[in-house]
Amino acid sequence: MKRLIFVLFLCFPGSLLAQKFEGLALTPPMGWNSWNTFGTNIDEKLIKEMVEALISSGMQEAGFKYIVLDDAWLAMQRDAEGNLVGDPKKFPSGMKALGDYLHEKGFKFGIYNCAGTKTCAGYPGGRGHEFQDGRTYASWGVDYLKYDWCNHGTANAEETFKTMRDGLHAAGRPIVFSICEWGNNKPWLWAKDVGHLWRTTGDIADCYDCQHVYSMGWKIILESQVGLEKYAGPDHWNDPDMLEVGNPGLSLAESRAHFSLWCVLAAPLMAGNDIRKMSNEIRDILTDKEVIAIDQDPLGKQGYQFMTQPGKEIWVKELSNAEWAVCFFNSGERPFQMKVKWSNLWFLKGTYQIRDLWQKKDLGTTEKDFSGDIAPHDVLLFKLSPIK
Ligand code: GLA
Repeated sequence: MKRLIFVLFLCFPGSLLAQKFEGLALTPPMGWNSWNTFGTNIDEKLIKEMVEALISSGMQEAGFKYIVLDDAWLAMQRDAEGNLVGDPKKFPSGMKALGDYLHEKGFKFGIYNCAGTKTCAGYPGGRGHEFQDGRTYASWGVDYLKYDWCNHGTANAEETFKTMRDGLHAAGRPIVFSICEWGNNKPWLWAKDVGHLWRTTGDIADCYDCQHVYSMGWKIILESQVGLEKYAGPDHWNDPDMLEVGNPGLSLAESRAHFSLWCVLAAPLMAGNDIRKMSNEIRDILTDKEVIAIDQDPLGKQGYQFMTQPGKEIWVKELSNAEWAVCFFNSGERPFQMKVKWSNLWFLKGTYQIRDLWQKKDLGTTEKDFSGDIAPHDVLLFKLSPIK
């Protein structure tokens, strides 16, 4: 029997070791991804400028560490041996050199490909090359792979993503595996042992609540996350898609609310704006350490919708040390005054200190009712810490 296992191991190392690398995403991954602003217009120069801007703006220090090249970094053909190659015009120094550069700057190297025959933008996909591609990524020093679902034909999602997981594992380099099949096959039911995060929706769009065929505003995505909280935890996160914070389709309030609610959702925080050009107000949102700490809380519990009424929502997230984050969201079109009797938040036990995370103010304790104004599409985000 032992001999049989040994022989099997020699022949099929990937399948016998079928597992993901554990412990790579104990808190939701944070970084910057090229897609939301730049689409297919990416190159080495842009990435290097973004790196400098992430450093000088304080984003790196705030925890944004994965630089993810999304679609269109590839040459249109694999090489004669079937290996993926970076587009030599866009990335003249090559992908290994880019990985080395990112590591020298203290970042991690993220890259995109697709489980189908071609990526969504028509570049070579990974289908049938999973083990070979795993070795290529490892040789370039890749730390994070976003793996998409276009052009998959009749392939089974679970099996296909498992094959890429095994390809990464067999290559031996710990790589975060980010599954991007848009929630079509309910990955929250099967992907815990396959990837470290999985998309739960179609694409986010740069707007509050617009709805296109395949993409939609963050408010629409938020509502579709209700009920998914029980599937997330350390090393296996729901991914409601990347951030549009700072992009032109959102007001400042909408950017603040989007960021707050993504933190309450324990969502991966992948900035998608042009860091070189962001305003000071947007920088202050994206680098707010107290707010990011809600997302990155080590307990790793995704928050949930506690209450919803037309135009008003309350989202809450349990934190370590018996603390809670509470987010009051004005989802309507008119300002309103939020009145809170804290005892109605039945999950609270005893008395808490209240900290307004955006105003940076301590507001007293939950013994006193609270009332405060919230502008349309804006939030109040509080952290509650138990007294005693
Ligand atoms: C899909 C994904 C997006 C992005 C594009 C790239 O739409 O969901 O996040 O990666 O492909 O083509």
